[in-house]
Order: sequence, then C-alpha cells, then structure tokens
Amino acid sequence: MTPILTQDSFDIITHSARQTLAVGRRLGRLLQIGDVVCLQGELGSGKTCLTQGIGAGMGIEEAVRSPTFVLVNEHEPVDGGVPLFHIDLYRISGAHEALAMGLDDYLYDDGVTVIEWAERAAEVLPEHCLWVHLTYLDDTKRSLHFCAQGERYRRILSALEQELSARRSLAPADEE
Ligand SMILES: Nc1ncnc2c1ncn2[C@@H]1O[C@H](COP(=O)(O)OP(=O)(O)OP(=O)(O)O)[C@@H](O)[C@H]1O
Ligand SMILES: [Mg+2]
Repeated sequence: MTPILTQDSFDIITHSARQTLAVGRRLGRLLQIGDVVCLQGELGSGKTCLTQGIGAGMGIEEAVRSPTFVLVNEHEPVDGGVPLFHIDLYRISGAHEALAMGLDDYLYDDGVTVIEWAERAAEVLPEHCLWVHLTYLDDTKRSLHFCAQGERYRRILSALEQELSARRSLAPADEE
C-alpha cells in the first residue's frame, strides 16, 4: 500500500480485502454529513468491501451488505453519528431511473452517501464528490484510484494520504 498523491487524485494498491477495508475505514472517519462517494469498477472489484470499511469508520456496527437487490440500504450509527446511505445502481437503466428511485433524496439528506456503479447516473450526481475507480488486478490485488472533485474532497484526500503514509504507527489489527 504505497500511496501516490497528486493535487486531485490518489492511487493505492491493496493486497487483501482486509487492506481495502482498512482504507475504507480511514476514509469513513474523515466523512461528514452531505459527503458523496462515487464508486466505479467492474464486478468483484471491491466496491462493497470498501463501503464496509467506510461504514466501520463512521461507527456503523450493523453489517453493510451489497444492496444490489434493494437499490439502497440505510444504516444508522449506534451512537447518534451520521447515517450511511449505501446505494447500488447496477440494475438501473440510466440516470432518470436513479432520480425516479429518489437518488436526490439521499444525496441531499443528512447523511453520507456511497454509490456503487455511480457512473450509471453520472450526469445527475453533484458536481463535487469523491470518485473512486477500483480495478481488479488479480485474486487478491485491487487498485484504487481516488479522484477529488472540489476543494472539500481535495482536503479529504490529503488527510487520507497522510493517514495511510503514517500507517506503520497503527496497531497491526487495524493495518491488515
Ligand atoms: N484487495 C482486495 N480488495 C477488495 N476485495 C478483495 C481484495 N482481494 C480479494 N477481494 C475479494 O473480492 C471480493 C470483492 O467483492 P465486492 O463485493 O466488494 O466487489 P463489488 O465491486 O462490490 O462487486 P459488485 O459489482 O458485484 O457489487 C470480496 O470477496 C473480497 O474478499
Ligand atoms: Mg458490490
């Protein structure tokens, strides 16, 4: 996991699902009400895995599972923190259907929204958001390309890069 940061983007390769979870967990700790994370990547590239980490970082204790068949799962944190809206657009035909299912209601509600297959509704997503493009490299290896749209997300990426660079000081259980 050697992070490379340019001004707006950030690349990392994870070597296990646990590493992807750990990256998600650190990202989840940085997210606040109104933030939108758009995930793009083929089947099995790790979108749900990353989202599970994000949920853990936000303090969500219940299981975060792929919402493929229900389009959205709403997760409330146990201690009054920020809710996670986990959306999966795999089965929609296009942006209009995403709007018809109430996508905007989540994007502009008081929570963090994470969207799998976000590119299927790209034209109706907010101008400012965090894109993550995941690529399957081999059985255990995935590349994660983070791209910030807007100042808020540039700050998040900068903080994430610092945390991942300092990872050697973290407990082993958090690192794997
Ligand atoms: N480095 C890695 N990062 C993430 N997942 C990995 C990694 N190595 C192996 N895996 C495995 O790959 C699978 C990733 O599945 P996941 O459901 O997260 O993909 P997805 O992108 O959400 O797929 P879908 O498009 O079907 O929703 C999991 O079984 C996970 O254990
Ligand atoms: Mg998934």
